[in-house]
Amino acid sequence: MGKAHLITFGCQMNKFDSERLTGVLTDAGYQMTDDPEYADVIIFNTCCVRESADDRLYGRLGQLLPAKERRPDLLIAVGGCLAQKDKDIVLDRAPHVDVVFGTHNSSELPQMLDEAAMGHSIIRVPIETGSAEEQSDSEYRQERVRAWLPITVGCDNFCTYCIVPKVRGRERSVPMGTLIARAKELRADGVVDLTLLGQNVNSYGRDLYGETKFGELLEALDESSGIPRIRFATSHPKDFSDRIIETIANSNSICPQIHLPFQAGSNRILGQMKRGYDREWYMGRVEQIRSAMPGAAVSTDVIVGFPGETEEEFLDTLDLMRTLKFDGAYTFIYSPRSGTPAAKMADEVPAEISAERMGRLLDMQYKITTDKNREYVGRTVEALVEGVSKKDDSKLTGRTKEGKLIHFAGGFDLIDTLVDVEVTAAHTWYLEGVHS
Ligand code: SAH
Ligand code: SF4
Ligand code: F3S
Repeated sequence: MGKAHLITFGCQMNKFDSERLTGVLTDAGYQMTDDPEYADVIIFNTCCVRESADDRLYGRLGQLLPAKERRPDLLIAVGGCLAQKDKDIVLDRAPHVDVVFGTHNSSELPQMLDEAAMGHSIIRVPIETGSAEEQSDSEYRQERVRAWLPITVGCDNFCTYCIVPKVRGRERSVPMGTLIARAKELRADGVVDLTLLGQNVNSYGRDLYGETKFGELLEALDESSGIPRIRFATSHPKDFSDRIIETIANSNSICPQIHLPFQAGSNRILGQMKRGYDREWYMGRVEQIRSAMPGAAVSTDVIVGFPGETEEEFLDTLDLMRTLKFDGAYTFIYSPRSGTPAAKMADEVPAEISAERMGRLLDMQYKITTDKNREYVGRTVEALVEGVSKKDDSKLTGRTKEGKLIHFAGGFDLIDTLVDVEVTAAHTWYLEGVHS
């Protein structure tokens, strides 16, 4: 078996899938390499949520053309969400690709690579979705003390702009007993910080138990897993119940870090997006979170330039963000995805108007994020040390319970441990501190 190089585009779920792929490949005898020059197989695990993700993939595939001409034995495989969406287009746009696989059949990759080594292109992208239990299980973990645990795969919401349900299938939950057993195994294996994953974690269990059981799952993991830090992403405002908020507030281990995408501040746009809540409900959820957990960090996703978005409607988005003062926001310019209802909607917002709105939004949010971070100065926080700081290699980087990055001086022996750090300065993207 040869060496494999894996490139991941996309969300946390895709990063988890890449860990799973690494497990599948190493089990089959491949050795993973960080250097594409030495690889016999280069695999792309792709995203298609916005057009920029497609462009990035085809750009990278184009760059591999000379290597493929020089080394005809080099195999190139494209899997994940974009492959699931565009299986036939991939080979049209990049005929030097050997294998195209989907989001539901990553365990077949070694076999497909064997077949491709015999000289023909292989496309196998099943539409049937397979078992959540299998797709959420990985033999390999990149980090020693941090882990992901998918609790659901797929999505049952049909936000009109979003391609994810098309490429990931309907929502399927992993049984609670399996999750608790997996969490205990991860703890026994040294995991300190666990992130539960799903496109809408709050609706966990609806398919299996007839009602959502996310609160129950959090409670059980808090009581029995022994993992000191448990987080989850992503939450959906419509399913973020009082029960869930109370459970987090009363728990020892569930981190006060809530990522709650609102997407748009105007009720008309929220209706067009089919998000299932209005502005007032969303604001009420954030107020409830903050009253139950005054120290919680709340972050969000927001889309600018949805079809038909007027200046007034955009101002509703700005106003919501000014009022709620998020700790952070992932901001996206709307990108039409073929096959979604929004792609057929009229009144596309011109690119320059979306870009200008995005500029105003970011200016405001950066200031808010910096102000929120300043509230930490003078406090002592617990940080899980992740490694050496990328900004300054004389410092370490850790993460607080709220998910904030903090840089401070300390020995390498602190890596992967929980330490107390006094916060001395705050910036937009990180805090600085002194290890006490
Ligand atoms: N399941 C998660 C995240 C899905 S994708 C959730 O619902 O919150 C991550 C983010 O990408 C979304 O929250 C949304 O803000 C953004 N997004 C999805 N489709 C998009 C599109 N067509 N154009 C721009 N942004 C999009
Ligand atoms: Fe997409 Fe909406 Fe599902 Fe999130 S909840 S993955 S935005 S359809
Ligand atoms: Fe994630 Fe992108 Fe797929 S956001 S689910 S990798 S389309």
